[in-house]
Amino acid sequence: MLNTSLNRTLSRCSLFPHHKNFTLISKPNLSLPRSVKFKTRQHVNPLKNTDYGQPSSPSSYCWSKHFPHMKEDDRVSILDIGCGHGKFLLELSRMYPDHLLLGMEIRQKVAQFVDESIQARRDTESKYFNVSVIWTNAMRYLRSYISEQQLLKVFINFPDPYFKRRQFKRRFVNQKTVSDIADLLRKDGRIYTITDVKDLHDWNHSFMAKNPYLEPVSEEDLQQPDLEILSLMKQTDEALKGEIEKEMFISVFQKI
Ligand SMILES: C[S@@+](CC[C@H](N)C(=O)[O-])C[C@H]1O[C@@H](n2cnc3c(N)ncnc32)[C@H](O)[C@@H]1O
Repeated sequence: MLNTSLNRTLSRCSLFPHHKNFTLISKPNLSLPRSVKFKTRQHVNPLKNTDYGQPSSPSSYCWSKHFPHMKEDDRVSILDIGCGHGKFLLELSRMYPDHLLLGMEIRQKVAQFVDESIQARRDTESKYFNVSVIWTNAMRYLRSYISEQQLLKVFINFPDPYFKRRQFKRRFVNQKTVSDIADLLRKDGRIYTITDVKDLHDWNHSFMAKNPYLEPVSEEDLQQPDLEILSLMKQTDEALKGEIEKEMFISVFQKI
């Protein structure tokens, strides 16, 4: 029954329009995908003009293909920008079963991996219907998917640091993206960033501090569920990469 209505929805809208072999159709007892099958280059240039099949507006987008159980008024309220292979996103979705969570990922194969992981878990565990992923460039297309004052939480976990000065313009956090995110957050909504690069932390923090609609929340003022969230942020795929324990820098800002 679910498959039939899902297939009907899917015949109208495809998750990855440019990837012919990719399909969302559920297969019973699917085992989890292995990330080695989704090997891809390390970076995609976010300044490149690529067609991601983005909608003209959030309301014209076919959300039911991502969230087949959603009610008519449900909207994404938690966003993970640059979600990578999705460990954090999936863990957070268990903490927020009554919210819709969306990962945005610019690397197509990585987004496909996350999508297949979610589909496989839905098939085998009948859970994770509140979480999905979109292959897109969040630096350009946030507003194509999200409306003003829609979001409760936005995460930017371990954004690519782009160490060379001439590549700083590729860093995700800048005046425009912070201004967009501030508009998309509802009052008291929060933006969280974490990185192991001190310079990048200072960079991220300074752009958020300059935005008139955001105020910093100090780590000492954080309570649950934020303390649990911070602990998850310190255990993303990127956080756990390598053998040396990383020093991690966190910023949390709130919409006023
Ligand atoms: C260093 S990884 C961190 C992944 C994940 N957040 C984690 O902590 O494990 C940065 C991710 O952001 C993605 N990314 C970079 N720029 C992006 C953009 N403009 N829009 C969406 N995703 C982006 C990259 O492809 C990569 O998967």
